[in-house]
Amino acid sequence: MAKNLLLGIDVGGSGIKGGLVDVSKGELVSERFRLATPQPATPKAMAKTFAAVVEHFDYKGAIGCGFPAIIKKGVAHSAANIDKKWINTNAAGLFSEASGCKVTVVNDADAAGLASSYFGLGKGRKDVVLFLTIGSGIGSALFMGGKLIPNTELGHVYLKGQDEIAEKFAADSARKREGLSWEDWGKRFNVYLRHIDRLLSPDLVILGGGASKHFAKYEACLEVAAQVEPSHMKNMAGIIGAAVCAIPTKK
Ligand code: BGC
Repeated sequence: MAKNLLLGIDVGGSGIKGGLVDVSKGELVSERFRLATPQPATPKAMAKTFAAVVEHFDYKGAIGCGFPAIIKKGVAHSAANIDKKWINTNAAGLFSEASGCKVTVVNDADAAGLASSYFGLGKGRKDVVLFLTIGSGIGSALFMGGKLIPNTELGHVYLKGQDEIAEKFAADSARKREGLSWEDWGKRFNVYLRHIDRLLSPDLVILGGGASKHFAKYEACLEVAAQVEPSHMKNMAGIIGAAVCAIPTKK
């Protein structure tokens, strides 16, 4: 396997997706392979699915993994859309053991944001850039001058009049669960975005995750001061950024 090809795995609440990435260009060079996240999404069950994704690629080498939780030194410190058993689990250790490869684990939104910062719309930006992934949850990666502030978890803020965290109201899973049109969901997402805009005044907000592919359907609902753009990487940023995190010098 060429040195610049690394396996990136994006672990989500509904799917575990992998792909081989040319980390010098930030490009997916294989097909994307996806298996459904087992339910309940326990460490044991997810490690098995993770290993099956690795096996699909017949891969032996360093793996980078984006994981939907607060991650410090490979250990999960939260579990919003996965089983609570993940809290305090060493995800890097568990996935390394299950796959037989060295796995580096970071927060999934941080991974996707890094892809955008190295290769996408965030590249070369000196100002405040916020990357949001919209899927089962809402993940965030905040950058200042290209430097990541990890684990910001901005999907977990509270909105006025809501007694649950914002992602329960504004993630793509809320649209699906409640059968909302893109326009109705877009109005909700706008409430969320305006709140975040008021808190942080980002210069650029980049949207990733499943909902970013449908940006044209809700773009007109977004009324915020910040410039808002869908990621050009569609929802591949998570895999690409994860692979980049497996390069020792970019950790
Ligand atoms: C998790 C985050 C994650 C986001 C997107 C949230 O529920 O708390 O860690 O980045 O979902 O997957």
